Amino acid sequence: MTFRISMRNSKNEEVHFSCAADQVLSDAADLAGYRVTSCSYGFCGACTARIVSGSASLPFASDGKHHAVSGDEVLLCRCLPESDLSLEPRFSWLEIRPAQSTGTV
Ligand code: FES
Repeated sequence: MTFRISMRNSKNEEVHFSCAADQVLSDAADLAGYRVTSCSYGFCGACTARIVSGSASLPFASDGKHHAVSGDEVLLCRCLPESDLSLEPRFSWLEIRPAQSTGTV
C-alpha cells in the first residue's frame, strides 16, 4: 500500500510525494527529490513535523534515545505512514529542498 504525503515548506509551498506503508517518510521524500533530514537517526529533531491530517507510527523510537516529539508530531526519519498525510515542518529553518538536480522527477 502506498500513501500520498503532502508537506508545506518554509516558503509555504505545498510539495507532494508517495510513501509505501513500510517506507520511512524521509526515505520516500529523498526518492522524490526532497531532502528533509539532518542526522537521519532520530537524534537531532530537525525533521520534526506536525501532523495536520492522517496518522503515522514511530516504530524506531522505543529505546528512549531519540528526540522527543509531542502527540501530534513525527520524526520524518523514523516514522512510517499509516494513511495519507498532511504535514508541517516544526522548525521554520527546515527547508524541504531538492536533494539534487535531476531534471525531471
Ligand atoms: S533528521 Fe535528526 S531526528 Fe530526524
